[in-house]
Amino acid sequence: MCGIIGYIGNKEALPILMQGLKKLEYRGYDSAGVAILNNNKNINIKKCKGRIKYLENKIDKNELKGSIGLGHTRWATHGKPNNINAHPHFSANNKVVVVHNGIIENYLSFKDSLVNNGYKFVSETDTEILPHLIEKNYRNDITEAVRESLKNVEGSYALGVISKMEPDKIVASRSGSPLVIGIGDNEMFLASDIPALLNYTKRVIFLDENEIATIGKDYIKVTNLEGEEIKKEIIEIEWNSEMAEKAGYKHFMLKEILQQPSVIRTDLSKYIHEEQVCLPDINIGAEIIDKLEKIHIIACGTAYYASLVGKYAIEGLAEIPVEVDYASEFRYKKQLLQKNSLGIVVSQSGETADTIAAMRSCKNKLCSVLAIVNVKGSTISREADQVMYINAGPEIGVASTKAFIGQIISLYLLAIYLGKKRNVLCKDEEKDIIKEIIQIPQKIEMIFSKDKLLKTIAHNVAIYKHFLFLGRDINFPISLEGALKLKEISYVHAEAYPAGEMKHGPIALLDKKFPVVAISPKDHVYQKMINNIKEVTAREAPVIAIATENDEQIKDIVDKVIYIPEVPDILYPLLTVIPLQLLAYYIADILGKDIDKPRNLAKSVTVE
Ligand code: F6R
Repeated sequence: MCGIIGYIGNKEALPILMQGLKKLEYRGYDSAGVAILNNNKNINIKKCKGRIKYLENKIDKNELKGSIGLGHTRWATHGKPNNINAHPHFSANNKVVVVHNGIIENYLSFKDSLVNNGYKFVSETDTEILPHLIEKNYRNDITEAVRESLKNVEGSYALGVISKMEPDKIVASRSGSPLVIGIGDNEMFLASDIPALLNYTKRVIFLDENEIATIGKDYIKVTNLEGEEIKKEIIEIEWNSEMAEKAGYKHFMLKEILQQPSVIRTDLSKYIHEEQVCLPDINIGAEIIDKLEKIHIIACGTAYYASLVGKYAIEGLAEIPVEVDYASEFRYKKQLLQKNSLGIVVSQSGETADTIAAMRSCKNKLCSVLAIVNVKGSTISREADQVMYINAGPEIGVASTKAFIGQIISLYLLAIYLGKKRNVLCKDEEKDIIKEIIQIPQKIEMIFSKDKLLKTIAHNVAIYKHFLFLGRDINFPISLEGALKLKEISYVHAEAYPAGEMKHGPIALLDKKFPVVAISPKDHVYQKMINNIKEVTAREAPVIAIATENDEQIKDIVDKVIYIPEVPDILYPLLTVIPLQLLAYYIADILGKDIDKPRNLAKSVTVE
């Protein structure tokens, strides 16, 4: 939700800000802007509605010269996307400029008092109170003015501030929204996320909650809201800039779907040794594991669906009851938590506002909170008691794919680890399932080879306006994920149901124009799925089945079959999700949609 970029150094800031904005565009893309402080200590702003490319076309490079500046790409919350509401925002005297990610929840009370003091507002945003407040509180120290202004602000923010009065620094602060400072050679960078910095530096400092950074080209001073100095650790990032490039693929989403075998291989090389699961970073005593009564998994969106797969895997392999909650629901419900329960939060970005809040609300009430996260240094990875990284590399496509596979493989490995420690799985059973998991990347590549068939099916069904996805047992969450992928990138309506529930309502929707995608591998509920498929075909709805290789029976009752290799029942989600991701991708491509940046969505939901 909104991307922030900042630069201070000796180079021209504009190209660095523009490149950074392009890397951050996945965070929000309804308007964008830059502010540059020039050698005459004047600040020039250019901003406009629409994508970064529109901003680029609007900019006259000669007008925006200078080596200190801020950029912003917006996902609108308060005030519709237009030229005026786009960031950066000036203070009344045009001396202070702010870019902001988040929501200032009590902005109206500040606005009323500022208006009564003669401040004129030009935008409809909550953000605009900040430059005015900073201007009002300025007494020869811009950092102090920011500190004073933030004291009574409620809500979430990550912000960058530059001023004419102190033209040799950027002030930045965060509470609830991410910010990272990149350290260069006589230059510093500010960004919402690491991919924007990878072309310039791999040495970073992550700001923590309620910290304020004063950034000059050769120093960073971090303080808290009380003004006390805080020593920060410099972290070396493992990602490189190529990892965040499209590398010749038409879309990041396609690149990321095709990277899934390598994500699994990386995870297996880290977590499997001599056919055993080893989780060196997980430190839960054997006695605690033995007595675990429950696991609570908390997540949002695709990570929530991965968590549902995790529930089946943990209950199946470790025999521990699992409850899965949407973070946005969990944080406000009565939480009946026990000390002998484990918490797991699942998040690609590690910055989802609801997941962070839910994690904080259950910390210290459970034996431990384990985070399954992709982005190192993210808020969740720093605040959880323990972390298991999914090692997926940067995920840029807004629709999550390779992070999903990384999340479910991590949950499988955790399930095996817990099952073994609790003696639910014996050594041989552990070995057998690991042998099967090791073959998964190759089996996914076999599904990729059916690309032509998937494209043809996509062409045939791209005319439909509605889809129903059905699955049972551990493949029910995969039907939810398949429907989500289709709706978010193609804007086609898709619902998902446990197949057995279909006749309790959704069957009323079905007719010739309402295709059903049936996830029906040869597992223990296969025959039940076949019965449900027959109920569908009796209503003349077209059926696309995901089925196990050599299943001849299903061919005769459905319209199209996409075959996947055989695996043990519990591992099918690792394969059944692949054709659904590709089907959604090809349908969206045929419909000419903006696949990597679907309308109204943002990659990282840093507001609740
Ligand atoms: C869907 C998608 C979202 C995210 C959700 C949680 O394709 O990407 O549903 O899964 O916003 O994000 P993270 O995993 O970053 O917490």
